[in-house]
Amino acid sequence: MKAPAPSDTLMEDIVGLCKRRGFIFQSSEIYGGYNGFYDYGPLGVELRNNIKQAWWRDFVQCRDDIEGLDSTIIMHPKIWKASGHVDGFSDPMVDCKESKLRYRADQLFFAPVSVDGETIGYVSVVECIDQQEVAEKAAAEMKRKMAKQGELDTIKLKEYTEAKPEQYELIPSPATGKPGSLTEPREFKLMFETKVGPLADDAATAYLRPETAQGIFANYKNIVDTGRVKIPFGIAQIGKAFRNEITPRNFIFRSREFEQMEIEYFISPSADWKTLHREWIDTCTDWLVSIGLPREGISEDIHPGDKLAFYSQATTDLMFQFPHGEQELWGIACRSDYDLKQHQEHSGKSMTIFDETAKEKYVPHVIEPSLGVDRTLLAVLSAAYTEDEVPNDKGKVEKRILLKFSPKIAPVKAAIFPLLKNKPELVEVAKRLHKKLQRRWNVFYDASGAIGRRYRRQDEIGTPFGITIDFDTIEKDSTVTLRDRDTCEQRRVTEDELIKFLEEQIDG
Ligand code: GAP
Repeated sequence: MKAPAPSDTLMEDIVGLCKRRGFIFQSSEIYGGYNGFYDYGPLGVELRNNIKQAWWRDFVQCRDDIEGLDSTIIMHPKIWKASGHVDGFSDPMVDCKESKLRYRADQLFFAPVSVDGETIGYVSVVECIDQQEVAEKAAAEMKRKMAKQGELDTIKLKEYTEAKPEQYELIPSPATGKPGSLTEPREFKLMFETKVGPLADDAATAYLRPETAQGIFANYKNIVDTGRVKIPFGIAQIGKAFRNEITPRNFIFRSREFEQMEIEYFISPSADWKTLHREWIDTCTDWLVSIGLPREGISEDIHPGDKLAFYSQATTDLMFQFPHGEQELWGIACRSDYDLKQHQEHSGKSMTIFDETAKEKYVPHVIEPSLGVDRTLLAVLSAAYTEDEVPNDKGKVEKRILLKFSPKIAPVKAAIFPLLKNKPELVEVAKRLHKKLQRRWNVFYDASGAIGRRYRRQDEIGTPFGITIDFDTIEKDSTVTLRDRDTCEQRRVTEDELIKFLEEQIDG
């Protein structure tokens, strides 16, 4: 797969393909949709499960130092008080009083427009790939409309969070283009609230978890007490998380209901956490490459001290080149002993562990690799989406759309085609092979239409292998034709060779 070039049309193409072929639908579409929520269709759910299974296999089942967990979505509200989320988990929000639209202040940018040093107004722009260009165009238009002579000074965009109070009135709303309607930023709480139990009073308030991590900290003691673990060790969890995002956008990149794959890796307070952090960054990068993301599309963003989350000692994000620009895919944070100490204090339960090797008792520190399932899926889709040209059945070159998924995560692993659907002897062999492969992998049987069209349908959903049963299969040597999705090359293989090949490619 390749690193996708940033482009709006690529995102549109992916969204269109996802709907057309049953990967992802807007939630509640029959009622006009529901912003920030998405449903996964037949192919989407397969792809999603394959990503989660690959992660679970590689980080839990194939490692002796990581245990799995599945905790509840709604937990005791005291957990969120202790973790700091009740008081601190918010984003700066700004309202446009006129349009009633809301923006995240750290995703809204502004700049003074000046001509030869004289400020003639302000421009604003919502975060996007070409925000500098958009702002410069708006500034040039302002100068033209005001018929100002002279040179425009360089536009230096700043976050709205950095605006001075006297500037709020001067910065135009991106919705109306006019100044005077933007409010000053205020903190907007991201946790969804609900009520538990029959009484709807304040004491019944509970939260939908905004991260799976706290379920791990809350169960840390239970897992230590099972006696299965010794320092260093990790606890891993996959599960839904909910955030009332102010501006959910870019398809499934930022949604209000999403899924996380998180590990809390507990280490000694005297361990060399910087080296361990580096090792985790490399392990996570290698894993993304193992599921088919191009290494050149992944980069690292080290959070500066003043931008660290309230619990973090150091954080490096693995960034991916998404269609809407380079954005966070996987956050790898050193959370020190912040969370366990908070829970120790609030619950009154000791969070210490006895380190058999060092012969000492302590509250461990933690390294946290935290990855979004939906974001990984979008990264995989973006890297896999390809348009090329190949000859059709009659030799005429045609445009084709294909998804170059790694066989490990492809939703459908192989498609089985009888060359002709009205030849029972071909159909019988194809159906038998389909039944046999179906017991091990998600394979698809398709007998309808010209063989070229059947191949194209599978290319578009990323099925890596096509298996055709033809007259040579039944009349000559029992071999089948194996077609490669990316190269369209075909070769004949026996059934044993086919199964060995699929095992290597899919499970290997
Ligand atoms: N426990 C730490 C934590 O939750 P985070 O950086 O807020 O850290 C971790 O989230 C990962 O979860 C992100 O890197 C991203 O992959 C995913 N994620 C966060 N918010 C998301 C959202 N609104 N929609 C989709 N994925 C999201």
